[in-house]
Amino acid sequence: MFCVCFVCLGNICRSPMAEAVFTRMCKESGMTGVKVKSRGTLESEKGRPVYMPAAKVLKDNGYDFVHFSVTLTKKDVDDAGLVLVMDSSNYYDVLKIGGAAAQGKVKKLGAFTKSGNDIEDPWYTGDFERTFSEIKEGCEGFAYFLRANHAGQIYG
Ligand code: 4NP
Repeated sequence: MFCVCFVCLGNICRSPMAEAVFTRMCKESGMTGVKVKSRGTLESEKGRPVYMPAAKVLKDNGYDFVHFSVTLTKKDVDDAGLVLVMDSSNYYDVLKIGGAAAQGKVKKLGAFTKSGNDIEDPWYTGDFERTFSEIKEGCEGFAYFLRANHAGQIYG
């Protein structure tokens, strides 16, 4: 199994959206060897459900997704083939939590979009639709990257 771990701050907005979108993408494109999960770095959000506006955008776009926030651990980083973060702050948090194991396996999801920008936090922007479409574009680019670079590991 090649594990992909999406990480944001709270694990109640961006990374659960990415988990829902990428899980479906893997299923639809036959990448049966990929295990998808999401985590947050902010312990205070642990156990909380997906934030209502994020859950609504997912539902409006046809995703029935239930998730409760889980805090990122070093083991999550050790177990992951790649860790996909949303912004620079997540990036440095993952390096802090994952230590040496994180070196070389952390990437920004936004790097796989045309703009290359970070996926801004909708908790602050309030624009959950825009976040969803950036995440979807990032996941499409990332799926392409996985097929090109990890073909031997992603097909069960
Ligand atoms: P997320 O959004 O990192 O996309 O899940 C946030 C959720 C909660 C908080 C910040 C960002 N918070 O400060 O509680």
